[in-house]
Amino acid sequence: MTTNDRLLDSARILCALCFCSLLILVTSCSDDDDDAGTGASGLRPANLIYSPATITTSFGTAVSSTQPDIDGDEPISFTLSASLHGADEDDDDDHDHEDNDFADHITIDADGVISADDGLPVGEYEIDVTAVNSAGTTSFEEVFTIEVEKANDEAISYQADIRPLVNNRCAPCHITGVETKWTEYNNTRRHIDDIIDRIQRSEGSTGFMPQSGSKLPQSEIDLYIQWRADGLPDS
Ligand code: HEC
Repeated sequence: MTTNDRLLDSARILCALCFCSLLILVTSCSDDDDDAGTGASGLRPANLIYSPATITTSFGTAVSSTQPDIDGDEPISFTLSASLHGADEDDDDDHDHEDNDFADHITIDADGVISADDGLPVGEYEIDVTAVNSAGTTSFEEVFTIEVEKANDEAISYQADIRPLVNNRCAPCHITGVETKWTEYNNTRRHIDDIIDRIQRSEGSTGFMPQSGSKLPQSEIDLYIQWRADGLPDS
C-alpha cells in the first residue's frame, strides 16, 4: 500500500462515518418530527375559538363565555391565566397582590367555559388559555376578553328621572287636578303602588295607563320599580 492509498482509505472510512452519523441524525430528527406532529395518540389542541371572543358585564354581575370550539384529541383539559389590560407588565412585582385581586374571580371549567364571578373588579381582562391532551400542550394567548364596567348604582330620583317621564307620558291628564297630579312628588309617592300596577297592565285592558295610549317601554317601567326599591327619593 502506498501512502496515497492509505490516505484514500482513511478518507473513505471518514466519509462512511460521516454518512452514518448523518443517517442517524436524519432518522432521529424525523422521529422527533413524528412526536411533535401527531404523537402516539394524534392531534394536540388547536384552533381554540370563543364566539363571541369578548363579553361585557357590569360590576356585581357574574358572566360566562360560551363553550369554545377546539380541535384535537379528546379529552382536553384547560387552565387559564388572566391579565388586566393596561397594567404595566414591567412592574409585575409591584402588582403581584393586585393580580390576586382578580385571579380568584375568573375560572375555566372542564368544557373550556370561562366564568367571572360577581366580585371581579372593574377593568378589561385578557385571558390566555392553555389546553392539554394526550398528544401535547398548546397555549392560546389573549383568546378571550372580559370587560367589567362600573355598575350604574346611582339611585333613581323623582326630580331627575320620574318627573320628566310624567311630563312625557302622563300629560295632559295628570299634570292638573289635586290627587292624581303626578307632577307633584308627594302625590306620586303616595300612589306609587297603584302607578306601577297600572303601567304594567296589558295595553287596552281596564285601568291600563297611560289611558288610550301605548305601553311604556320596559326601561321606563323599570325606572318606576327601581325608584320604589331605592326608597322613593325626591332628588
Ligand atoms: C289620556 C289621559 C291619561 C293619560 C295620558 C294617563 N292617564 Fe292615568 N288616568 C286617567 C284617567 C281618566 C284616570 C281615572 C280613571 C281610572 O282610574 O282608570 C286615570 C287614573 C290613573 C290612576 C289611578 C289614580 C287613582 O285615583 O288611584 C293611576 C295610578 C294613573 N292614572 C297613572 C297614570 C300614569 C303613571 C300615567 C303616565 C305613564 C297615566 N296615568 C297617563 C287618564 C290618563
